[in-house]
Amino acid sequence: MRLVLSVPPEVAALWHGLFEAALPGAHVELREPGQAVDPGAIPADFVAIYGPCETVFTGQRGLKAVFALSAGIGHLLALPGLPRSVPLIRLEDAGMATEMIRYVQAAALRFVLRLDTYARQQREANWVQQATRAPSSLKAGVMGLGVIGAQVAQALVEQGFAVRGYAQSEKKLKGVQVFAGKSRLDAFLDGLNVLVSVLPATPATDGILNRQSLSRLADGAHVVNIGRGAALVDDDLVALVERGKLSGATLDVFREEPLPSDHLFWRYPEIVVTPHISGITGPAAAVAQVAGKIAQLERGEPVSGIVAFEKGY
Ligand code: GLV
Repeated sequence: MRLVLSVPPEVAALWHGLFEAALPGAHVELREPGQAVDPGAIPADFVAIYGPCETVFTGQRGLKAVFALSAGIGHLLALPGLPRSVPLIRLEDAGMATEMIRYVQAAALRFVLRLDTYARQQREANWVQQATRAPSSLKAGVMGLGVIGAQVAQALVEQGFAVRGYAQSEKKLKGVQVFAGKSRLDAFLDGLNVLVSVLPATPATDGILNRQSLSRLADGAHVVNIGRGAALVDDDLVALVERGKLSGATLDVFREEPLPSDHLFWRYPEIVVTPHISGITGPAAAVAQVAGKIAQLERGEPVSGIVAFEKGY
């Protein structure tokens, strides 16, 4: 069995070693960005890819599947060479959910405790005790109820929030009021105090968080984005923060990453910017998951996590 691996050079040795250990007897070939490919090279059975590498699909005639070493796959769908005739399989959780839950819990608690207000008061040396808030008096909504979003929603339930979820299709989640389909979006958003987006970047989610939709949130609401930056219209968020409609946002993903140094978000203390760290892929868990799925495919068994090309996730 042959696997071609494409990951950033600084972590290549680590991933290569993990794949070799997890797939004894397999030939694991590391493909560097810009590396020339011998046209006579033996084609691989599988490709595992983290960052885009323009030559990774060159000369591949017998691929059985492509594994994305990430949960989001928008960057791979944009690759001209990505074969559409074999399954593209993305990471499912692989340790990311635990980290993303922690990130959302921190942002939600910051909102509950009004730490953003106290940060402003501190800048003004202003001692004022604000009315306390209890999670049970607050509505939190999670957009995107996939493997990660569902766990995030559940964690907010455990934190005591009244939790809603928004998904494309009906889902059952204990303690979560689920709104399914575009026609239910407004009802989902109405009066939310904390909105968390775990949405992938697809044509259907592009700009879904805009002036009109965000205006439906409760006054002083807080927006958290840990999905993909394209779901949010940046200028609309800033305008709503300026107006005081939103108290602020906690953003980990952006339309352009790294976030350009002249971007408005950097200038607003109400907008917390983190550099796409809410759910870092853990190489060991990711490799174990991919190796497990390769074994399932080789036995002719079905695997989960296959991307629906028409939906874009
Ligand atoms: C991280 O953003 C991922 O998609 O895995």
